[in-house]
Amino acid sequence: MFEARFSQTATRLLAPDNRVWAVHDRAMKRLAAGEDIIVMSVGDPDLPTIAGAIALAVTSLYRGRTHYSPGMGEPELRRVIAEIESDASGRLTTPEEIIIFPGATNALFTVLACLLDKDDELIVTEPAYIGYRGLFAAVGAAVVAVPSLAGDGFRIDIDAIKAAATDRTRVLLLNTPGNPSGHVIPHRDLQALCEWALEQDIWLVCDEVYSMLTFETPFVSARKAAPVLDNIIIVDGLSKSHAMTGWRLGWVVAPLAAIPPLLEFTSATVFGCSQFVQDAAAFALKNDQTYIQSVRDEYRQRRDYALARIAAIRGITCVKPAAGMFMMMDVSETGMNGYDFAENLLDRAGVSVLPGGGFGSRTTGFVRLSLTQGEQVLKQAFDRIETFCLEVC
Ligand SMILES: Cc1ncc(COP(=O)(O)O)c(C=O)c1O
Repeated sequence: MFEARFSQTATRLLAPDNRVWAVHDRAMKRLAAGEDIIVMSVGDPDLPTIAGAIALAVTSLYRGRTHYSPGMGEPELRRVIAEIESDASGRLTTPEEIIIFPGATNALFTVLACLLDKDDELIVTEPAYIGYRGLFAAVGAAVVAVPSLAGDGFRIDIDAIKAAATDRTRVLLLNTPGNPSGHVIPHRDLQALCEWALEQDIWLVCDEVYSMLTFETPFVSARKAAPVLDNIIIVDGLSKSHAMTGWRLGWVVAPLAAIPPLLEFTSATVFGCSQFVQDAAAFALKNDQTYIQSVRDEYRQRRDYALARIAAIRGITCVKPAAGMFMMMDVSETGMNGYDFAENLLDRAGVSVLPGGGFGSRTTGFVRLSLTQGEQVLKQAFDRIETFCLEVC
């Protein structure tokens, strides 16, 4: 009989995850069965994307833009992104430094696969985006997690990052604005880390997918803060800012020396992104001034509403996120950890949030609530959370 054996990569990916997604999976099943469940556990925006982008994608399909696209991506999209990245960094960025990917996840996978060998170490700050886990497992590098300073709005701990480096460290992965913390790394911190990484011969990879969703604190790109760009690679995309998660569109800006391996890797594994999606992405990026402002305003209003509700509920607290679409709520005063809180909240109140333990070992007392529902649904969710907390506290 055939024995189905799998690679170490597959085995790592198949390793049983802890309880992180159990609540969400259960919530989705109950929702599909017609139950009254409010799902606040994923970061898929409810907002519509720019209407013109949809019309343009359709026209583009009819125009026959349905063929293979160059491995680097469509020239027009890369030109538009080069302009945006030049503005964000204050440095001339050329299309030759930009590669298009089917989403930031695939871009990050390609980057990490090109930079890391099996025993190399990658430093990541925690709380970290939950999707990194799968990427790290797929790449197989050794991960060194450095906790951020929870009491300080999850400010990154520069000294701890430096102390975590060894002679095997090849990559420092940063995420600003951060998911789930909403923390925006200040210019001076980012600059200090870029300088240090350069001195240490370490690549600094910066995931900037929430760069357009900042509120009071201005976003600073690693390409702006870095004194020299030789070791800086940034990843961005349209999933969050333009509510285009399903379109799968992301990009990398990398120094010219890093382009050939990235291009070879993506040419071998993706073979170019959809032409009509790239056409629509270029349109979206060229016509998004009012749209992005309205998206930002919407998330800011949701955040402020959530903050006001949290302040009035005994047992939960939250540091004001400076960006993004998430609230990291500290639920430890309820006497429950984030796993138990999330499970009980779903069972007793029909609201699904993600246990903070999924983002790192220091956030087991937290749950993450996504602001991806309008204020009406948010109100219902917080009414239920309030009643639940009154019962359990
Ligand atoms: C920090 C971060 N990076 C990357 C991604 C993935 O983005 P994409 O949809 O472009 O793959 C997400 C999605 O939640 C995210 O939060």
